[in-house]
Amino acid sequence: MDLTARTWMAGRVRGFGTSIFAEISALAREFNAVNLGQGFPDFDGPEEIRNAVARAIAAGHNQYALSNGEAPLREAIAEHSLRFYGMRIDPLAEITVTSGATEAIFCTGLAFIEPGDEVIIFEPCYDSYVPTIRMAGGIPVPVALHAPDFRFDPAELRAAVTGRTRAIYVNTPHNPSGTIFTDAELETIAAICREHDLLAIADEVYEHIVYPEASHRRLATLPGMWERTLTISSGGKTFSFTGWKIGWAIGPEPLQAALRRVHQFSVFATCTPMQHAIAEALRLPDDYFRTLAADYLARRDFLMEVLRDAGLRPRRPDGSYFIVGDIGDFPFTNGADFIRHLIREIGVAAIPLDTFYLDPAEGKRLVRFCFCKSWETLEAGAERLRKLRG
Ligand SMILES: Cc1ncc(COP(=O)(O)O)c(C=O)c1O
Repeated sequence: MDLTARTWMAGRVRGFGTSIFAEISALAREFNAVNLGQGFPDFDGPEEIRNAVARAIAAGHNQYALSNGEAPLREAIAEHSLRFYGMRIDPLAEITVTSGATEAIFCTGLAFIEPGDEVIIFEPCYDSYVPTIRMAGGIPVPVALHAPDFRFDPAELRAAVTGRTRAIYVNTPHNPSGTIFTDAELETIAAICREHDLLAIADEVYEHIVYPEASHRRLATLPGMWERTLTISSGGKTFSFTGWKIGWAIGPEPLQAALRRVHQFSVFATCTPMQHAIAEALRLPDDYFRTLAADYLARRDFLMEVLRDAGLRPRRPDGSYFIVGDIGDFPFTNGADFIRHLIREIGVAAIPLDTFYLDPAEGKRLVRFCFCKSWETLEAGAERLRKLRG
């Protein structure tokens, strides 16, 4: 038997392929481009929190953590929810610590979605939702966030719900558009969830990267939503430690029971000393959180102006650290070709938005830049982008 010709790959993963992110990163390295594509900071989070990892290791927090998360972290997550949202959460029963928000998202697929269930996502959408739904045998049903404002039409959301709809993924503040759902939009989502008995998976990893034009409200705090919502967040974005992969899911006991079954047989437990350090981070004074948002606001306004001057018609984000631009003024038919040109000729990398859509045609003129970068990186990118218009 010719083993080289044998397909070992299971059918459920065959359709996934590798993402454009890998190609862009490789091309950016080859041409020494300023990378405004990758969505992670090129600077570190607070020094005292880095030192907290060393302290946790020295104090002997080096063996398997409790499967549901170390007690100090779960207590800190509960205190954080009370401080910022007035929510009283039982740290023992209502919080599970995961390996980043990504693991929590993946667990929701196997824990809650039956084969054949329909699951609503807002498009463009974070790239792990669709594979998560599909690996569980579910069917992703997109509802558009319409460019250039990236808002949804309530009638379209209602029309997407059928008798087979099980759940909805709601990401606010939103990657890649930077939209923060308004109270009215959250009310619409909540009303539909209550009416059709849907589960809501609220991905709120950018909860502290919010600008003065908007405010972030947790979906789980709306009437009738706590019982049916799993709120996912992580320490990666708020504390600029994306490599630590400490995330969590907050929600009522029956949802935790299902989630924990998947968590215990996938990763079982999450890196112990990092959990102790993120517990300290969550207890940082209010000023830390205010400064984080203010720093990103200055970077957002800087990159907005640069992209506007470069003719990329940027859409101002209300939250997150991404700006979506439109290549309509340039002679390219799709974002990927434009970005290859941008890397080779201008020396700046960004991400084409079509990878965030089930139907790539929807996002083909849009590109995403991120500003979670040092001022030095942003200024170097700006200087190069000024050459875009010749
Ligand atoms: C919307 C959204 N959800 C989840 C994640 C993943 O978070 P983590 O790094 O904690 O796994 C990201 C990271 O880019 C994201 O943008």
